[in-house]
Amino acid sequence: MIVKGVANAVKEENGVRFYLAPLEGITTFIYRNLYRDMFGGVENYFTPFIAPVSGHHFKNRDKRDILPENNEGTPLVPQILTNNASDFLFAAKCFQEYGYHEINLNLGCPSGTVVSKGRGSGFLAYPEELDRFLDGIYTQADVAVSIKTRLGIEKHEEFLEIIKIYNKYPIYELTIHPRVQKDLYKNKPNWDMFERALEISKNPVCYNGDINRYEDYERFRERFPAVDHIMIGRGIIADPGLVRQIQTGQTLSDSERLVFVQRLCEEYDKIMPGEPTLYKMKEIWSYMCRNDSDGMKLWKKIKKTKKLSEYKNIMRSL
Ligand SMILES: Cc1cc2nc3c(=O)[nH]c(=O)nc-3n(C[C@H](O)[C@H](O)[C@H](O)COP(=O)(O)O)c2cc1C
Repeated sequence: MIVKGVANAVKEENGVRFYLAPLEGITTFIYRNLYRDMFGGVENYFTPFIAPVSGHHFKNRDKRDILPENNEGTPLVPQILTNNASDFLFAAKCFQEYGYHEINLNLGCPSGTVVSKGRGSGFLAYPEELDRFLDGIYTQADVAVSIKTRLGIEKHEEFLEIIKIYNKYPIYELTIHPRVQKDLYKNKPNWDMFERALEISKNPVCYNGDINRYEDYERFRERFPAVDHIMIGRGIIADPGLVRQIQTGQTLSDSERLVFVQRLCEEYDKIMPGEPTLYKMKEIWSYMCRNDSDGMKLWKKIKKTKKLSEYKNIMRSL
């Protein structure tokens, strides 16, 4: 059993440490490495979920994403999605052999295909099985296991029972995204329930959800001054300078943003030339363009492109 200890004793200046949230298809090793190189300021980078395939192996794409040689210098926490303790232990052992010290369990994914198999947030509907599963992994894994969770399936109050289960185990860190599965990404994170969870949890808690701008961070800190771990996903994708702005006040300039997307495009183009790179870039821009009306105009142009060369022409014009 491994309990959170002194290994993470280094603190950021303002006492808060940040994690990059896992976003399937977006926070790939290409993205993570470039982000770290240009911005940093993030303590841990979580991989998008990896689901061990039956027969105990991984998809090639997932393997490439966590190989140590593709993640040099980036503090990485691999994430596993499963409801099978033996599959979890197999994957955790592999990742440990790669040199990773913490493994994250996904109990938050709300997508229909995952939930219908009783995985991700879908596992929260089966408290007895979840309890047995956690017992299996926490008694046998000799690596730190953290959990990323939602509040439940339909009602936020479900969490008051779920957290009783979590409290039985030495969870290295419990990251709470205070929405339920049915919310998907709609509605607001429930800060009242997060507050109760903070009071009840016997394990260290990290917050995740809708910290999209500096003002969101300020509001959160005002209400939760004692929470010193925050995981951010879409806010960083939309504005890769967000954490730096929080830490130093320096906002992202247009030229930095352009350099970032150009380098990202070059890196993707090396491993997946042509249309797959265009697809990746469109996905990134769909977040980056959200914040203002000029951004929306740009997004309309980017969205229409069918070839990478058309996309590159738009970038040249910026
Ligand atoms: C496109 C997309 C992919 C995601 N993939 C994952 C994933 O692989 N694993 C996971 O735990 N969460 C995943 N999430 C959830 C995010 O990690 C995060 O919990 C959620 O976006 C809320 O945080 P944010 O408001 O800071 O983005 C994903 C979210 C989105 C929008």
